[in-house]
Amino acid sequence: MKKTIFFLTFFLLSLIVHAGEGMWLPILLQQLNEKEMRAMGMRITADDIYSINHSSLKDAIVLFGGGCTGEIVSGQGLLLTNHHCGYGNIQRHSSLEHDYLTDGFWAQSFAEELPNPGLSVTFLVRMQDVTTSALNNVTPRMNESQRDSVIAANSKIIVNEAVKGTHYKASVRPFFAGNQYYLLVTETFNDIRLVGAPPSNIGKFGGDTDNWMWPRHTGDFSVFRIYADKNNNPADYSKDNVPYTPKKYLNVSLKGVSEGDFTFVYGFPGTTQEYLPAAAVDMVANHKNPIAIGLRQQRLDVINQAMEQDRLVRIQYSAKAAGIANFWKKMIGESRGIKRLDAVDKKLAFENDFSQWVAADPYREAAYGKLLAEYNHIYTDFIPKNNAYNYLTEGPLSIELIRYAYSFNKLVQQSSQQNVTDSAVNALAKQLHAGVDGYFKNYDINVDRKIFAALMNTYCEKADAEYMPAIYKELKASYNGDYEKWADDVFDRSIFASAEKVKAFLEKYSRKDAKKILKDPAFQLAAATYAYVQLNLSKELGRFYDVTDSLQRIYMKAQMEFLPKKQFYPDANSTLRVAYGKVKGYEPADAVEYNWFSTLDGIIQKENPEIYDYVVDPRLKELYRTKDYGPYGDRDSSMHVTFIATNHTTGGNSGSPVLDADGNLIGINFDRCWEGTMSDLMYDPDQCRNITLDIRYCLFVIDKVAGAKRLVEEMNLIN
Ligand code: ARG
Ligand code: ASP
Repeated sequence: MKKTIFFLTFFLLSLIVHAGEGMWLPILLQQLNEKEMRAMGMRITADDIYSINHSSLKDAIVLFGGGCTGEIVSGQGLLLTNHHCGYGNIQRHSSLEHDYLTDGFWAQSFAEELPNPGLSVTFLVRMQDVTTSALNNVTPRMNESQRDSVIAANSKIIVNEAVKGTHYKASVRPFFAGNQYYLLVTETFNDIRLVGAPPSNIGKFGGDTDNWMWPRHTGDFSVFRIYADKNNNPADYSKDNVPYTPKKYLNVSLKGVSEGDFTFVYGFPGTTQEYLPAAAVDMVANHKNPIAIGLRQQRLDVINQAMEQDRLVRIQYSAKAAGIANFWKKMIGESRGIKRLDAVDKKLAFENDFSQWVAADPYREAAYGKLLAEYNHIYTDFIPKNNAYNYLTEGPLSIELIRYAYSFNKLVQQSSQQNVTDSAVNALAKQLHAGVDGYFKNYDINVDRKIFAALMNTYCEKADAEYMPAIYKELKASYNGDYEKWADDVFDRSIFASAEKVKAFLEKYSRKDAKKILKDPAFQLAAATYAYVQLNLSKELGRFYDVTDSLQRIYMKAQMEFLPKKQFYPDANSTLRVAYGKVKGYEPADAVEYNWFSTLDGIIQKENPEIYDYVVDPRLKELYRTKDYGPYGDRDSSMHVTFIATNHTTGGNSGSPVLDADGNLIGINFDRCWEGTMSDLMYDPDQCRNITLDIRYCLFVIDKVAGAKRLVEEMNLIN
């Protein structure tokens, strides 16, 4: 009886109209989603979103830098993304004299747009299912590494064939945990210039306090431009490059949104793990996250205090702090969300039903009968080792001094190798010398020293001694638990804590000086730690990932067989996806109801000149006072700032265009709501919302606050 009820609910669940969950492959939209999207209100077709026969919306979307999304909004390669996605680049152009991070930056002409070495954007040219050829010659008996090498060899052939005669790049990537493979052909541009960024009190309004939260008032956008050579092809930076003419750019809607409107998000979500067993979710929520949260909290306490006291430290550490804080807070929200949703128990209940289905058939029993037991076994075995690894990476290995010292390891190695010539050694020393100023520009020895003392304390006192490199036990004993003294000794004696010392050392470096590095206390800690990880943990972790990769592949396949009517979407893997849903508020707690949009009124309400994150820009205040919103105000006569919807998004979706039923740009995705941050592991339609910057607020800031009307004039505005 119980069983039939279960099957019934599951099949019913899989048939009802989807409530926002899913990150879908653009090439399969027509087959899997178009009907539903249109039923939800979409007026364009799947072919308008992705086509290889003619230009489509996909040609206006880019992977921005390593891990964000951007969209093209003009015929001259103008690109929008988030402020937090451009942050590192804005920071690199900032100094005490030109503090673009704090004050904002607006190029008044093409000539003033600033190049960003190392920054690139990538378009998807096309994708294609190549499962059969990728798996050619793969047999069930192969172990993971044999399988990987056959697939790698197959992929090479597929890729070579795909890019022949073009400047494109290509890769073959696994989907559904290696049950399917797709070819992705891409085009990358390297000359990307900074066009504009609002001041931090707009672009990062609310800072880390409001991060991952609703209601939100962050003007989280920045503006870049793609440059190409004279033939409109990708080229390295040159002053002769010209603005890129895109195949497609987005129209920008001034119409505004209403609750219940259809929306979709088109971008590059990074990683989700929706199909894991309960044991894995438990490990993330109850082991991995808590260790990292505690250690990151300690780093943040030191950095935040120093940033409050010193303007230079604020410039040096703001991007680093934002990165540390972002994942710190995400992990807190995720672990809470997993608990609140009873995700582990839900997974266990699912596994129970799954096991009954397996047991009901001898073939299934043979194929999947041991799967979950093996999972549980390997996770039990793995947890202490993974904890040890996380303690090291979030602890000692996140101390800047230790990481920096280790960047000299290659020099040490080469200096002692007979077959490496003196001139090669000198060249390497020169290369390290060239990096010194860049590294120390963003380094404060006192911040790092305090972090050292705090992290060493926690690491030595709390981490499992069984998996601790001997050097920590020895030093802990010799300093008798005085971690400040330990820190002082290391920072006073190490050459790697001072730009002058490193430079002087490298300027007259000859290979016999390697022994000075070997005696350096920071290098010794670094070398011992990395060696320990390599010898004692990496192999174990590698074995674990081999086993779980192969188990996950089988479990994924099994889940798809178990629920044949359910439409599965592959986990995010930084490839282009479409998520769709509706504009909608939510109820985060008993008796609390959240509205679906925020306004400028809320910025004024949050204002606090004493707190950096809540300073309100004076120009913004003046425009608020005079209600001078131009064409960007809402029909309710307020200035909308952000809105939320049920689109399923994750890290990497930041900067993604949020589009309306006609495919026009209505906003820029930048975050998720607190109660739904566990959506990378389990999506909850009641609580999961993506947060979008209303495009009208973005235009208002560009036009009215910054006075950069030339940029708005480049765009195609729809009224
Ligand atoms: N939470 C958002 C995302 O994961 C934005 C984070 C940037 N902002 C910040 N205050 N750190 O990337
Ligand atoms: N803020 C994230 C990003 O940077 C988006 C998210 O995790 O929802 O991609």
